[in-house]
Amino acid sequence: QRLDIQLEMLEKGGYEHFMLKEIYEQPRSIRDCMRGRIYPQQGKVQLGGLKEYADKLKNVDRIIIVACGTSWHAGLVGEYLIEEYARVPVEVEYASEFRYRNPIISEKDVVIAISQSGETADTMAAIELAKEKGATIFGICNVVGASIPRTTHAGVYTHAGPEIGVASTKAFTAQVSVLTLIAFYIAQQRGTIARNKLIEYLTELNEIPELVEKALKANDHIQSIAAKFKDSRNCLFLGRGSSFPVALEGALKLKEISYIHAEGYPAAEMKHGPIALIDDEMPVVVIATKHSSYEKVISNIQEVKARGGHIIAIVTEGDTEVKGMADYAIEIPQTAEPFVPLLATIPLQLLSYHIAVMRGCNVDQPRNLAKSVTVE
Ligand code: G6P
Repeated sequence: QRLDIQLEMLEKGGYEHFMLKEIYEQPRSIRDCMRGRIYPQQGKVQLGGLKEYADKLKNVDRIIIVACGTSWHAGLVGEYLIEEYARVPVEVEYASEFRYRNPIISEKDVVIAISQSGETADTMAAIELAKEKGATIFGICNVVGASIPRTTHAGVYTHAGPEIGVASTKAFTAQVSVLTLIAFYIAQQRGTIARNKLIEYLTELNEIPELVEKALKANDHIQSIAAKFKDSRNCLFLGRGSSFPVALEGALKLKEISYIHAEGYPAAEMKHGPIALIDDEMPVVVIATKHSSYEKVISNIQEVKARGGHIIAIVTEGDTEVKGMADYAIEIPQTAEPFVPLLATIPLQLLSYHIAVMRGCNVDQPRNLAKSVTVE
């Protein structure tokens, strides 16, 4: 038995849980995911797996993303990025809904299936359906040689390494990294992004692993915030633009591992419902980085404060305005807008982790959840 315990400690690399280990692996997993795929000085993205389909992507009219759970959240981030930079309409569907509603698909469509495990039954069935209707299917998977990458026409592996914690962390940021690369790759094929802009973005993207490393340094501060909110019964997560799916993912992480009821919302939608829940017992986590919707998010924060809610804000390093309003602020390094999801996710993972540990929950194997859902 002592040997078993020692073996487990070894596997966890000195961390208390796999989840924490995997959170800390992200600078490396994101780097592994980009290796050999970006050439910042040349302003070039190269995706070997999609090479044969470069022309198809150049002329594509529509992209449909299918996935479940955390992978579906990554898909939503992908929608923002692909539409913004490649100017191709994107639809993001829950695989389980897509497969049962006689969707309109043709040979002209490209379907991207996202799955960490590559084994999710609903995602697999959605692929089969789209394939029958003649669509071209790409996979974004982590587990090499799994069922999904074997059945798709082409794909891009995330290369995040094995993920043991049931709640997905490093696989999510790797999926988002791949979708960022795909967005720029399609933009490059279609000529919807200027080369100097691409050089600028890729140079920044190349720095992301170091910035994630920096974001992780807020761990102790986040742990102290977690101590204040560990007994909460509800929690709201708000964001706008590509930070909206990050808010959804933050809420999912918290509910999965700490069993606190949490909801993610687009910040502006708050006034159409969740605002009714806000009182002095409601923590509201807001992603309020200094980007296009900064001012709008500030007014959402004021709406929460006016009703006695407690704000935990994710802010850009050096911010003073939001910090002045929020009860607690967690800084992330400054980065260009397309890369905010990769950084803003980090403090939300750590916040959920610490809250769950303080509540005595089994963070690596939460009740009722499975790492891979192979039944429908
Ligand atoms: C399960 C896991 C989630 C995961 C989802 C989709 O619910 O607990 O972490 O996001 O399945 O899994 P996939 O392997 O397809 O990404």
